[in-house]
Amino acid sequence: MPERGIRMIISRRNFLKTSAAAIALISTGGVIRAFDQGAFSTGKGPAYEPWQSWNEEDIDSDTNPLFRFVKASILASNAHNTQPWLYRIRENEIDLYTDISRNIGTMDPYFREMNISLGCAIENLDLAANASSYESKVTLYPGGFEQIHVANITLTPGVMTSPDLYHVIGKRHTDRAAYDSDKQVEPATLQQMEKLSSEFPDVKVAWFTDADKKTEVGNLIIHATEAIIGDQSQSGDSHKWNRHDWDELQRHKDGISIDASGNSEMIRFFGKVLPDSVKSFNDYWLKMTKSPQVSTASVFGMLLVRNQRDRTQLMQAGRLWQRMHLWAVTNGLAAQPLNQLHERRDRELQLGIEPLFGKAIEKLVNAPGYEGLFTFRMGYPTGQALASPRRPAEEVLLTHH
Ligand SMILES: Cc1cc2nc3c(=O)[nH]c(=O)nc-3n(C[C@H](O)[C@H](O)[C@H](O)COP(=O)(O)O)c2cc1C
Repeated sequence: MPERGIRMIISRRNFLKTSAAAIALISTGGVIRAFDQGAFSTGKGPAYEPWQSWNEEDIDSDTNPLFRFVKASILASNAHNTQPWLYRIRENEIDLYTDISRNIGTMDPYFREMNISLGCAIENLDLAANASSYESKVTLYPGGFEQIHVANITLTPGVMTSPDLYHVIGKRHTDRAAYDSDKQVEPATLQQMEKLSSEFPDVKVAWFTDADKKTEVGNLIIHATEAIIGDQSQSGDSHKWNRHDWDELQRHKDGISIDASGNSEMIRFFGKVLPDSVKSFNDYWLKMTKSPQVSTASVFGMLLVRNQRDRTQLMQAGRLWQRMHLWAVTNGLAAQPLNQLHERRDRELQLGIEPLFGKAIEKLVNAPGYEGLFTFRMGYPTGQALASPRRPAEEVLLTHH
């Protein structure tokens, strides 16, 4: 019997001891489906392997030493876990390209999220290079869809910097569960985090901490979620990236899975055996957004840029988000982007309809010369967020060295 099979059966036995409901499930034949959906295999298999090996020294001496920076880069935060990146490694430089086929359609009509995601990947790459004593020169390229070459990172031997953030690259996971309502994030912590933006002149952070503002932001996020659900194209495009079937997840190594949903072990188990439909997913998404996601947020924040039509500013914002999330991890904080507001703002623009959410964002931002780009929540965690799938670095290289 293969090793995976043995482990699955052991964990199944443990689970059954504690769950009369599971016995009922087995008696109805649901256990076969449970195996298919990976209900016993959280965080295992090839789709999760990149989280284990990302900082191992390469044994093969023929491998370009820069390759391991790509292994760190692909663990970055990215919209809907689409991983819209391709890399080319050369002697002393790495080029980053967008894989525009991995877009989220009407959820991201102007590639706002795609470009932020690329910025997140650049930040991990840069941190990994600096932690290996390389000095990096990052050049971000402006341009539209027709220019898929988005960045160049030139590396020269230098001094080691930022090891703290580098070391938690493999521990950073989006936390969609409840945050600790008894422990609020201190203003001093927010101020410290805000300082991370000093390197990015076009990006700023806005915090929403008092009760009224939090209610306003929270309600807008919930209304935007409802608006997405009411828009068949948007919810259909979003749903394409939900991975329900375990084999599909292991094959694609991308998308959103129930394990990353922030649910308890029990709910995740049953979630995996629920029928997969847009309606059931949407019901569940709205419920989770209301509570615990909005209801237990200690603070909401928004990244602002001067001009969101400028791709380089979106990538700068992505770099900052990745850095903030890593910093949050080193300080025991949990984080989750909540971009429904912006997804609706972009959709309104695309359809030419009344800019309800566009106007609401403008009102919230209240910072002349800046536009709201990306909303998130933070707080202290109540559990451990789980890893999401990744395509390994080898699969996203344009050339092998
Ligand atoms: C631009 C952008 C937008 C995102 N929007 C959301 C969101 O609205 N809701 C959410 O739960 N996660 C959101 N995320 C988080 C991603 O879904 C997450 O990073 C991805 O699934 C990979 O998981 P990981 O962060 O745990 O590695 C966003 C991330 C980025 C970079």
